[in-house]
Amino acid sequence: MLLDKRSFLSFLGLAPIFAAAQLSGSVGPLTSASTKAATKTCNVLDYGAVADKSTDLGAPLASAFADCKSGGLVYVPSGDYALSTWARLSGGEAWALQIDGIIYRTGTDSGNMIYIEHSSDFELFSSTSEGAMQGLGYELHADDNWSGPRLLRLYEVTDFSVHDFILVDSPSFHFSLDTCTNGEIYNMAIRGGNHGGLDGIDVWSNNIWVHDVEVTNKDECVTVKSPSKNILIESIYCNWSGGCGMGSFGSDTNVSDITYRNIYTWSSNNMMLIKSNGGSGFVENVLLENFIGHGNAYSLDIDSYWASMSAVDGDGVQLSNITVKNWKGTEAYGAERGPIKVICADGAPCYDITIEDFAMWTEEGDSQWYSCESAYGSGFCLQDSDDHVSYSATTSTVDSAPSGYSATSMAADLTTDFGSTVSIPIPTIPTSFYPGATPYSALMADSASTAAASSLASHATVSSSVVSVAASVPSAVAPSESIPAATSAVVTSAAAVAPSPAVGAQEGSTTSAPSFAAPSGAGNSPQGPSGASGFGQKGQQGEQSGQGEQGEQGGQEVCYV
Ligand SMILES: *[C@@H]1O[C@H](CO)[C@@H](O)[C@H](O)[C@H]1NC(C)=O
Ligand SMILES: *[C@@H]1O[C@H](CO)[C@@H](O)[C@H](O)[C@H]1NC(C)=O
Ligand SMILES: *[C@@H]1O[C@H](CO)[C@@H](O)[C@H](O)[C@H]1NC(C)=O
Ligand SMILES: *[C@@H]1O[C@H](CO)[C@@H](O)[C@H](O)[C@H]1NC(C)=O
Repeated sequence: MLLDKRSFLSFLGLAPIFAAAQLSGSVGPLTSASTKAATKTCNVLDYGAVADKSTDLGAPLASAFADCKSGGLVYVPSGDYALSTWARLSGGEAWALQIDGIIYRTGTDSGNMIYIEHSSDFELFSSTSEGAMQGLGYELHADDNWSGPRLLRLYEVTDFSVHDFILVDSPSFHFSLDTCTNGEIYNMAIRGGNHGGLDGIDVWSNNIWVHDVEVTNKDECVTVKSPSKNILIESIYCNWSGGCGMGSFGSDTNVSDITYRNIYTWSSNNMMLIKSNGGSGFVENVLLENFIGHGNAYSLDIDSYWASMSAVDGDGVQLSNITVKNWKGTEAYGAERGPIKVICADGAPCYDITIEDFAMWTEEGDSQWYSCESAYGSGFCLQDSDDHVSYSATTSTVDSAPSGYSATSMAADLTTDFGSTVSIPIPTIPTSFYPGATPYSALMADSASTAAASSLASHATVSSSVVSVAASVPSAVAPSESIPAATSAVVTSAAAVAPSPAVGAQEGSTTSAPSFAAPSGAGNSPQGPSGASGFGQKGQQGEQSGQGEQGEQGGQEVCYV
């Protein structure tokens, strides 16, 4: 599918706009869902499924998969389904899974509700953009149980996409991409409880493009873990979350060529947290570009002594060639948690760190700090030298706002969290994920003009939405205080080709004097193992609230991921 997009874009002369240098090649399925459906369609209703919200979908789904796994489309029509035995779908090729219904968790096993492994040329989507998994995590969370199942996991899947799909209230993590290759994830809404351990998207994979995703929770928004290479993450709306991050990193970290671009973060623990504590290996060639934040505890937070994980053996993960560029907005309380914190390992000082075009200011009080330790490069408190010897933390405090810090807000920022003890409503997938950026692809529900429920209809229309790509490069996004969103200016080239619906219509207004509600829970009231928000140089770490990350790497549970 992306192949099609790319050739179409080249035809329009728009290809460079992809700026997809961070990817190593094409991503997405090799065969369209319509072709797969024409080959064979396996409707779960023909395999014993009943959309009555009580009959177990597990066996019918497995049977439908068995019949269509060698080429075909497994179809879950609209309706409410119950999943009480988890689906482990292994070894498919040239297949798609179209879930237009809503799958409710009724089982109590841990593990993964839907686990897709050893598949190639795969697509998971909802043609109505309303298909969802409702994990009903609150039922477990109300009993203080955080070890229920994850919703969706892909393991060793190649040439694939997951899109137009909604994940709600996972008992544990929502979506993990484990050792996958050539994938595209887009047009998703993920909404979990307001607690640590309920990650949005975790990816440790190669050549993956994640874009146009909204996450609400209180842990990872979209996070890169090790090993990873060639990951491009764009237009992410962390709408009350933990925030995006990289890590936690331990031994033999191997992460390179990562770009985060157009990341909007509201009421989160941080805008970007690169976290480790001891360990070894490297993180290199990282670009963190076009970030807007409001109401967050931390902003840029590189913490190589992250106290929410136990220290592991090693001198530290070597960080190098990290560029932080065009960050705007405000943080919750800059005197307590300044917008720049670059704490590198004394045993492995980081280098080639660049911080430029970075202007953030505090929402509370009238000062903020920048802090660096064993960090080399250019900008702010970074030391500019080639010797790369360790140095202890230096903190500078500023008492006036940098010019140009003001940045637009999204119109519909969540004003209160969903807690973790009552049912969480299923959201709709937004059509804007970053101020001024139009999603690369229209929602399937909007692009399929007829017969939305038909996969045949749904896929043929993708190319019509492709032209909106041009709009999604808002390098000029609204640092200005007065213009109501720089959105319209950015979009013209796309609009000239084909008017795309409502660009900028819903991304709200520029706020020059943000007065956001106190971000309770955004790192201010840590629930995690580290507890108190002790502040002193090293005490600044370790309050990523309530992470309690029971991570996973290669299928193993480790305590610090
Ligand atoms: C927590 O919930 C999961 C999933 O229902 C269950 O397997 C596990 O036994 C529960 N743990 C506790 C301590 O109750
Ligand atoms: C890091 O991972 C890449 C694959 O992404 C691999 O080719 C390389 O050998 C790894 N490097 C180390 C030092 O493990
Ligand atoms: C630094 O990383 C960028 C990607 O962010 C890459 O384009 C560039 O080649 C890297 N520089 C070096 C010296 O490796
Ligand atoms: C942000 O989250 C809240 C709660 O989920 C939702 O009402 C609002 O629509 C979201 N914003 C957008 C732009 O989707």
